[in-house]
Amino acid sequence: MSTWTHWHNRFAERARRPLPPLDDAAELPAAWRAPLARSLARFQIGEAGEGRIAHQVARVTLPAVDDEYRAALRLFVREEGRHARILGGMVRGLGGELLGTTWSERLFVRVRRLAGFRLKILVLLAAEVVGIGFYGSIAARLPVGKLRAALEEITGDEASHLDFHVDFLRRQIDGAGARWLARAAWLSIAGIACALVVVDHGGTYAQVGVGRRRALVDYARRILAVERALTGPAPARAAAEPVVAAPQAA
Ligand SMILES: [Fe+2]
Ligand SMILES: [Fe+2]
Repeated sequence: MSTWTHWHNRFAERARRPLPPLDDAAELPAAWRAPLARSLARFQIGEAGEGRIAHQVARVTLPAVDDEYRAALRLFVREEGRHARILGGMVRGLGGELLGTTWSERLFVRVRRLAGFRLKILVLLAAEVVGIGFYGSIAARLPVGKLRAALEEITGDEASHLDFHVDFLRRQIDGAGARWLARAAWLSIAGIACALVVVDHGGTYAQVGVGRRRALVDYARRILAVERALTGPAPARAAAEPVVAAPQAA
């Protein structure tokens, strides 16, 4: 059995879930609707844009990559597409409009296209940290309801994606030099991505009562936890325990 079979099975099982019901967002304070719709529309574009790597993986020959990994990665991309559909429903339910593209998405795509496969996965790993921090912080502040439940579900998926990418990258980092390189690449890419999100979505964070400083401290904590998981000694944590936890309600 491949080391990736359990990931393939997990993605396949989650693919069977029905889309969460999002027929209204009546539980939401009126002042939150416009900034939230704007932010979620920006995230929706990122979730929809990861299709190329699903084709690229067919040609990748790297240590630990086999057909089970390729199948799991394709299901991961599909799960991100599912997030895009859920976020699209949220944006429309909040009275917002979906966007064609954004500067941050164009930057993200450009960096990914310049990169080899492993660096692409590192960039996707940064996107998971960004997503967990943003969706999780917002979900923790929302009143109990369908929108909160759907964002919590997406946050849980992103935490699982993060573990999937860490599992892959750990197998690619061999030797002190590679560890140093991976650490430098991770801290700079994830640091820039998270700082940009806090700046870009600062208004939304403020509207739901999360200060920029708190958002940045939360991100820094997660970035360092992933750095330890990527380049530290083999994890002592139980396999089911995520590398980073979702934000808790204040
Ligand atoms: Fe996602
Ligand atoms: Fe993800």
